[in-house]
Amino acid sequence: MMGESKNWILMATARAPTNIAVIKYWGKRDEALILPINDSISVTLDPDHLSATTTVAVSPSFEKDRMWLNGKEVSLSGGRYQNCLRELRNRAGEYTDENKGIHIEKYDWNTLHVHIASYNNFPTAAGLASSAAGFACLVFSLAKLMNVKEDLSQLSTIARQGSGSACRSLYGGFVKWTMGNEMSGSDSIAVQLANETHWDDLVIIVAVVSSRQKETSSTSGMRESVETSSLIQHRAKVVVPSRILQMEQAIRNKDFSSFARLTCADSNQFHAVCLDTSPPILYMNDTSHRIISIVERWNRHEGTPTVAYTFDAGPNAVIVAPNQKVAMDLLQRLLFYFPPARDNELSSYVLGDKKILHEFGLESLSSIEGLQPPPEAKDKGLAQRYGGDVSYFICTRPGKGPAILVGEDQALISIQTGLPK
Ligand code: DP6
Repeated sequence: MMGESKNWILMATARAPTNIAVIKYWGKRDEALILPINDSISVTLDPDHLSATTTVAVSPSFEKDRMWLNGKEVSLSGGRYQNCLRELRNRAGEYTDENKGIHIEKYDWNTLHVHIASYNNFPTAAGLASSAAGFACLVFSLAKLMNVKEDLSQLSTIARQGSGSACRSLYGGFVKWTMGNEMSGSDSIAVQLANETHWDDLVIIVAVVSSRQKETSSTSGMRESVETSSLIQHRAKVVVPSRILQMEQAIRNKDFSSFARLTCADSNQFHAVCLDTSPPILYMNDTSHRIISIVERWNRHEGTPTVAYTFDAGPNAVIVAPNQKVAMDLLQRLLFYFPPARDNELSSYVLGDKKILHEFGLESLSSIEGLQPPPEAKDKGLAQRYGGDVSYFICTRPGKGPAILVGEDQALISIQTGLPK
């Protein structure tokens, strides 16, 4: 194969975003291929604030496939990693770099081993879905390294086999995962509905809710729902198909009130299906419920949906505002109800895009202490504050899809040793 030397190392680095579903994926019809029972739609979040970065390396000197996640070695023996690696090796192309004396034939990829190093730019302990960004990034970077000549929709079918929601992280903006009909899964792909510039007024605030509880994983939770919930069938067959059409239209027309109504209703129905599962699955906690009440009360007071909330398989809230102005009103409410625990700096309490804080002069802890209750709570005795119930907030927006990062300084693996830096 590749010349005399065994010393060369070839690498690729990529960054891929997370996504938040506004019409949820919940339930599989095929566990191994990860084929869903309904379509879903998501918004890709700005990778500057929530993303995975992955470097993949190949060398004839590597003795086996290895992976490090946030600096710690993890096993690649799981079926999901193996399926992604196999699918990519099957599609790998030949590669030549005459300067470095590297020549790799298509079939060489079956015997060459890879090293993978990945890290998330947000705390993993936060319970924010990291598998979507992680698998999207793994597939995107390996496709680059292995010279896979497939379009993003084909790559999405590979990422899907790592984690269902990962297929939607192959694109920026607004993304639909079509469930497909084929047994092989070939038509269960992600498609972009609109890119990140289409509706760039939106502001997204993630509330990372403190929780001590170990949650049921999405994978086992949705399996139990499929086995025991009767509501899930009605949802998949009747409710979701019509919501998908309405959501596509709301996104196309940038119709925020429809977008918000559908997003909240679908999150609530997903959690209703969880409650309809036996034994019931409770992902939201008191703080999550409080956030729903605050938003619902505010929306009712305004007479129209001002912001939208959605919750995945955990207590964290993702709240979408139509623009900066409303986002600031939202953040003031959130900081009023959930001030930081004592000793917490504001700079480590509101993360991500801080522009929003600075613009409105909310720069010190004392400015938060002095916040007044919002008008809809003023004379109703609803002004109780819950310090410490939120760990921190991340301000972000719709973002772009995966990208290759060039330059050795961006790589997580050393070109000298082939190991994490
Ligand atoms: C609630 O994609 O994590 O976030 O396919 O088993 O890996 P697997 O599950 P996963 O499930 C995500 C479920 C959800 C809703 C969504 O993202 O659509």
